[in-house]
Amino acid sequence: MPRRGIVVGLVDVTRDRAWETLTRYTKSESLLRHALAVEASTRSYARRLGHDEELWGVTALLHDFDYEIHPTLDKHPQDGAPILREEAYPEELIEAVLSHAEHLAMPRDTPLKKTLFACDELSGFVHACGLVRPTGLEGLEPKSVKKKLKQPSFAAGVHRDEVYAGAELIGVELDEHIANVVEALQPIAKELGLRTAADAV
Ligand SMILES: [Fe+2]
Ligand SMILES: [Fe+2]
Repeated sequence: MPRRGIVVGLVDVTRDRAWETLTRYTKSESLLRHALAVEASTRSYARRLGHDEELWGVTALLHDFDYEIHPTLDKHPQDGAPILREEAYPEELIEAVLSHAEHLAMPRDTPLKKTLFACDELSGFVHACGLVRPTGLEGLEPKSVKKKLKQPSFAAGVHRDEVYAGAELIGVELDEHIANVVEALQPIAKELGLRTAADAV
């Protein structure tokens, strides 16, 4: 079985296939945008650190793939894992998907697991910051993101403790981590429904 996983994984883990899986289970625009944002951030770290960009990107794209069908923590993401297994995604991806969930308390013992955790909440938060600015992410400074992190009512669903813990886990200063995520999301601003400076003119 592990052998099969490895072989299938090498042949089959493509972004197209993951997108097909994701959109089969997820119709909500905001969830799809969240998946795209976390993918972009996680990919940027794979590039930066010299890891497998496709595997990291696909893992991030799928991390909440079952949230729409399993919107409660007694099911998400643990009941999604057998579906991914059935679809022959590699165990490395599935384990990383499972490890993003705080309530499962799984060890985040690989660079992929650490990075996915570090990018999940912060990508959502930076996305929310961009949505309320007339120029989206352009000119968004870490300083103002940090200020908003201290306002509990702004993007209240984002767990601040996980944002701070994530940066610490990957050993990147929070300012730098925020700047990296902002930079990663900029090229997909349109897909994320964000305005750009051109729209503000
Ligand atoms: Fe999740
Ligand atoms: Fe997420």
